Amino acid sequence: MAIPTLLPPSTGIGLKPQHYEAALARSPAGTSSSQVRSKLRPGWVEVHPQNYFCAGGPPHRWLTAVAESYPLSFHSVGLSLGSATGVDRRELAQLVALCERYRPASVSDHLSWSGSAGNRYPDLLPVPYTRECLDHFAVQVSVVQECLGRPILIENPSRYLAFLGDEMREAEFLHELCRTTGCGILLDINNIEVSATNLKLDPFTMLDAIDPALVGEVHLAGHAVEEHEEGPLLIDDHGSPVSDLTWRLFERFVARAGRVPVLIEWDTDVPDYGVLIGEAAKADRIMCSAELGHAA
Ligand SMILES: [Fe+2]
Repeated sequence: MAIPTLLPPSTGIGLKPQHYEAALARSPAGTSSSQVRSKLRPGWVEVHPQNYFCAGGPPHRWLTAVAESYPLSFHSVGLSLGSATGVDRRELAQLVALCERYRPASVSDHLSWSGSAGNRYPDLLPVPYTRECLDHFAVQVSVVQECLGRPILIENPSRYLAFLGDEMREAEFLHELCRTTGCGILLDINNIEVSATNLKLDPFTMLDAIDPALVGEVHLAGHAVEEHEEGPLLIDDHGSPVSDLTWRLFERFVARAGRVPVLIEWDTDVPDYGVLIGEAAKADRIMCSAELGHAA
């Protein structure tokens, strides 16, 4: 099965408005070397399409310039695919219009829900891993893919609880979703660490259960840690450097998968552009080492 992404197998960054100018700068101040310039440029960038649902103005002027310079990934946070009432049709119509306007290399959303009975929640809430939920979720993914006219990627969630009625593991749920709908997986390795720690599972076992052939993109991010009597609780806040364990999990994954499109995700306490590029360069070094390992 073809992985539904046209992103290059290189490192990208989540692009924030405060970094538009740096990302679009033709040459960093004081340098002219193309080698230096290429080291300061990500291979592609990702944005939340919901930030561009307005009709025009500065956000679109910036995004137009960005789209002319980089392969673009739209990482949606609003479709609420797991809602019992189904995908949010208003969000979907806006996403379709934005995709027609910018033709992104990849479109993704989450294995989660964010609304019910007219309420909206500012969270990506977990779904039970049951056959009933899987069937429902697959229908919603198919609706989205039909409206977009393309396959999408679905991201594994950060979990803070498990449901008593879960009938399968997360990887099984995602694999079956891919098989029935033709979607791919956006593998967030920080989310693996967060979920495994919070639910007292083995992160390496969780990671190894994922079929790399179905993964169209990888996310790397940082998380916050709360210490409790029962043990640490990890909060998926995307507000710090990638953790040591997530880096080790990433190394393990690329040893199996080889090069993949990988994103540095940083959404709160966003650092200087150079810090993001430094994290992206580290991810690239790990993929280069994995390639050398494969070649040896
Ligand atoms: Fe993510």
